[in-house]
Amino acid sequence: MKILIIGGGGREHAIAWKIHNDDPKTQIFAIPGNGGMEAIASCVPLNINDHQALLGFAIAHDVDLTLVGGEEPLSKGLVDLFASNGLKAFGPTKKAAQIESSKRFAKDLMRKYGIPTASYEVFSEYASALAYVRKQSLPIVIKADGLAAGKGVVIATDYSMAEAACKTLLASHLCIVIEEYLRGIEFSLMAFVNGTTIVPMAIAQDYKRVGNGGKGPNTGGMGAYSPVPSISRTTVSLSMEKVMKPITIALVNEGCPFVGVLYAGFMKTATGIKVIEFNARFGDPETEVVLARMKSNLIDTILKVLNHESVSIRNSHDAAVGVVLASKGYPYEYKKGMIVSIPKITNGVCFHMGTKLADETYISSGGRVLIVVAKEATLKLARRKAYESIISVANEHLFYRDDIALLND
Ligand code: AMP
Ligand code: GLY
Repeated sequence: MKILIIGGGGREHAIAWKIHNDDPKTQIFAIPGNGGMEAIASCVPLNINDHQALLGFAIAHDVDLTLVGGEEPLSKGLVDLFASNGLKAFGPTKKAAQIESSKRFAKDLMRKYGIPTASYEVFSEYASALAYVRKQSLPIVIKADGLAAGKGVVIATDYSMAEAACKTLLASHLCIVIEEYLRGIEFSLMAFVNGTTIVPMAIAQDYKRVGNGGKGPNTGGMGAYSPVPSISRTTVSLSMEKVMKPITIALVNEGCPFVGVLYAGFMKTATGIKVIEFNARFGDPETEVVLARMKSNLIDTILKVLNHESVSIRNSHDAAVGVVLASKGYPYEYKKGMIVSIPKITNGVCFHMGTKLADETYISSGGRVLIVVAKEATLKLARRKAYESIISVANEHLFYRDDIALLND
């Protein structure tokens, strides 16, 4: 079997690692891939926005199944192009990917189908946004409609910050969503979906802010862990019944059935679970810890879901903790091209997020460089092992958060 993975971060490395572990005979291509993936996949330096080149590659290499890591190719219709050329890709069409690419689309769909989420209004003019903001209590959340690579969400703690956010986001986007600030415990639930066939994975929690204690700007994610002891089985079942199943039905009813991995970011609030966001793909870095625990064969699961067969996922009882090592300065300016040592870890794996292999040496090529995932009987032990490993390779050019999976137990 030949699998093509589109992307080159920690998530794509984890997907390739899982496929390789499940069956080392599977031939894996990655576009563009990264330094760490080269040991298990053929990495091909094509531009992921050049969809014709991706299509040409998949046809020329007889690819059986394509998995798309990031949102950009999905929102630009890569899966539509592959499907119209008779190629199998596990991901949503451009229309279904709006669940992520348009906050307005996602919020309006949730309102229409009674799916619990923060109350909100949509604005395309500054004056009316401002008038609305002034009537709301603080903090208030302002979100750009459209993909913004994590930079489109502002949690304003005073009115001048809220006004500035409305102005900035409206200058670069057609409209903004202004929504109620939710308090509670966040968790992420991903599921393999084909229309109304839906197979959930284990839940995880990620750490979006750059600094300890949730301080500083948002990032692509500084770490994650799974399972999440503060979220009960009942809460997960409720999330399936009140959100995941209804949203797949909603997308079918709206004429854009979802195929691929559907991700929901939840807040467990005092008044029940509420959706913070949907993503149309595997989450990063949640995937790195969730796949580390997944015992079922990944490609078999996807093929069964594509055939609408009923299947459930078996997960290890072990806990997985992933800690990210990032370039100093990230998520703002940082240097690339630093030599990176790869840590050793027993009962775990180091996924590359932004490295290149140059003359048998790994050099950094991105803001997030590595994620070390430790898998042990308890979260506490996994956390200790992940940090021992991270500390062994951190240096003056690289940093990490100290509080990943630091739970009050
Ligand atoms: P999003 O891109 O919508 O996931 O937002 C990024 C992060 O901002 C989320 O993971 C939350 O931590 C936070 N956030 C977004 N919306 C809200 C909200 N309504 N209430 C509280 N926090 C939020
Ligand atoms: N971890 C959140 C995301 O993948 O967008």
